Amino acid sequence: MKTKLVTMEAIKEAGEIIRARELVAFPTETVYGLGADAMNSEAAAKIYAAKGRPSDNPLIVHIADMEQVDMVAKEVPEAARKIMEAFWPGPLTVILNKKECVPDGTTGGLKTVAVRMPSHPGAQALIRESGRVIAAPSANTSGRPSPTTAQHVLEDMDGKIPMILDGGPVGIGIESTIVDMTGEVPMILRPGYITKAMLESVVGTVQVDPAVSGKQMPEHVVAKAPGMKYRHYAPKGQLTLVEGDPEKVVDKINQMALEKEKEGYRVGIIGTDETIGRYHAGICRSIGSRKDPDSVAANLYSILRECDALELDYMYSESFFEQGLGNAIMNRMLKAAGYHLITV
Ligand code: TXA
Ligand code: MG
Repeated sequence: MKTKLVTMEAIKEAGEIIRARELVAFPTETVYGLGADAMNSEAAAKIYAAKGRPSDNPLIVHIADMEQVDMVAKEVPEAARKIMEAFWPGPLTVILNKKECVPDGTTGGLKTVAVRMPSHPGAQALIRESGRVIAAPSANTSGRPSPTTAQHVLEDMDGKIPMILDGGPVGIGIESTIVDMTGEVPMILRPGYITKAMLESVVGTVQVDPAVSGKQMPEHVVAKAPGMKYRHYAPKGQLTLVEGDPEKVVDKINQMALEKEKEGYRVGIIGTDETIGRYHAGICRSIGSRKDPDSVAANLYSILRECDALELDYMYSESFFEQGLGNAIMNRMLKAAGYHLITV
């Protein structure tokens, strides 16, 4: 199949492709999505094939209007309504009990459905133009870092899907916060740009799934979002994170990187604007500024992809603030590192 990389001017054709039960990759404010008609099993199945994704990993249904929630959700609890009104359109996915009409092909056989109203004009245009609600995972090959540019999507999906809508680089750079609203207390299944504190300011107490909150590999707990159990976001080489006193972190990273370089491996270092000038082994990249967590989130996946392109064997990275957005950043970095974390 020939893959067209087009600007948003091709939105009419994109809508037609969705209605013809084929796939279109499109920009959202978090990461690029790989979209299909959410109410059609055959279309959803094509997503799994293109990504090489396990079929028990459910998709998020993207909507453009509040009324579309009722097309897919059996009921919307009061607390869910409140957070939807507070944070939609935006980087928040809400888990609700599903209606019969939502195919198992979209929800991985679950009785619940994940719903999100993206704020990106490109995503909204595709949903409106197609006249459908759109099932979309991140538009990467399963196991690779999520795409934050149309070029990343092309790297993974060339020849596998008919169209990629290029809306430029995304703004946020990590996937939406997922919150399960089907239980007594709202539970965060995947940390993201909308933080626990932000949710609590609207609905009171919110819990975090233990499988996504720790620094250790969650071996004894089963992640409630099926997708969170897979090795994810991962570059091909081995990434090691180092945390602790900032001076010691720089020294430790330099020491480990130098050792591997002497052994003949291809080595990379991920530092910050504040420290990058102090590294002196391998290929060094700044992920952003410690004063600006948004910049770190925005650069994370493109740096991990660059590590792959450079065919690095070993990568060493500073670790990040575990408050607010830092929680989401560390969650993705720990997964990318297979939970390799050294404390100095
Ligand atoms: O920001 C985002 O959410 C992006 C953009 C494209 O919208 N999408 C995205 O989709 O990250 P994906 O498929 O890569 O991640 C969806 C996550 C998976 O971990 C999946 O297991 C979980 O959502 N999920 C989907 N439906 C669920 C459900 N009914 N219950 C629990 N978890 C669910
Ligand atoms: Mg994904």
